[in-house]
Amino acid sequence: MSTLFLQSEIKNPYSLYHKMLEESPMYWDESHKIWAVYSYKYCTEILNHKKAYIPAVSENSFNEYALKISRNLARLSNGVQHEIAKESAFIVFSYMKNIGIDSILSELFQNNNNTEINWVELVCKKLPVLTVLKSLGFTDDDSFFISKNIEPLIKIMQPNKKSEDIEAINAISEKMYVIIEKHISSISFYENAITAISTKYGISYQETKSVFVSNLIGLFIQSYDAGRGLLSNALLQCFSKENSFKKTDKTQIQKLVVETLRFDPPIHNTRRIAAEDIQLNNSTIKQNETILVVLAAANRDDRQFENPTIFDTERTNNQEHLTFGIGGHMCLAKYFSINLATEALHYLFCNFKNISILDHEIEYESLINARLPKAIWISIYN
Ligand code: HEM
Repeated sequence: MSTLFLQSEIKNPYSLYHKMLEESPMYWDESHKIWAVYSYKYCTEILNHKKAYIPAVSENSFNEYALKISRNLARLSNGVQHEIAKESAFIVFSYMKNIGIDSILSELFQNNNNTEINWVELVCKKLPVLTVLKSLGFTDDDSFFISKNIEPLIKIMQPNKKSEDIEAINAISEKMYVIIEKHISSISFYENAITAISTKYGISYQETKSVFVSNLIGLFIQSYDAGRGLLSNALLQCFSKENSFKKTDKTQIQKLVVETLRFDPPIHNTRRIAAEDIQLNNSTIKQNETILVVLAAANRDDRQFENPTIFDTERTNNQEHLTFGIGGHMCLAKYFSINLATEALHYLFCNFKNISILDHEIEYESLINARLPKAIWISIYN
């Protein structure tokens, strides 16, 4: 039984999760030398555990800029460095201007003359990252450059990188880093925030700035990757025969988005390393062993969610899903992401009267941690 598989190769990962929840909610995969944790209870315990660390990213043959970015990313570090990284991400979020998601969407649709569109290419891969960029005051040219070139950087977080992935990461890192550093240096708010953080933690200004720049890159990566997946999976739920609801009602759309996060999340798992021996379910996870926390399985645990295989926007506890993680590393963009997906679907259903799905067999990207549709073709008529 393998715990690690590519989402592109499995038609229904949920039946596998169901089996594991029943038979082995905590499982040692000898071939990959990894613990896989499936139940809601154990996933929660690991995510909250003080000695379950975020694994360091394998640095392979990264160049200077790729190294800086990977070492500084908030979700990849622990301890004081994580505190600084988290604080800088919070500052960035609080500074985000309230920009109109509708205006970005209308620009994306303006350039489209087709009645058949690929939702993933036209909207999902662009809207989240453009929203973050524009909210942070990047110019149109910089926003265009970053959103066009962010894709290779997604792999910076993946454990097993091929040599061509590393080459692509190295090729884009310096330009990306320099554009973002220049932008930060041009705004006094950021300069002041960096000075305050560097004084508070007794770390040099240059080093703090580097954490800050890397964190911005981390935000772009997360938006491109997970943001894309949520926009895709939520749209698929809109077309499901079981889900009849008023598609122009924002409150109902938001409920659908939240239940999608539980039922069919974009991120399926995250990893931890045991910094010391950890006792769980009468077993010992030994120091330095890796743990796969299967968030998507926990979301289907019937000890936590009644009738978990039923998509029910009215269940009372659907927001208890683990899709954004929990504890010290919980996603900082939870409300941002829910709002973004709600606004995007609302825009689509309010602006086009007849929308139908053309793709009935969805293919997924070949990733282990995320379930991201490659394409979703839909037809749109007024
Ligand atoms: C839309 C769906 C999203 C999902 C499902 C998601 C999921 C997650 C998860 C599971 C984690 C925790 C990782 C762990 O504990 O191992 C996380 C962390 C994080 N996410 Fe998200 N994310 C999403 C969108 C975003 C977006 C759009 C941004 C930025 C604009 C973002 C920024 C972050 C940051 C900065 C962290 C690290 C927090 C820390 O280390 O303390 N996320 N996300």
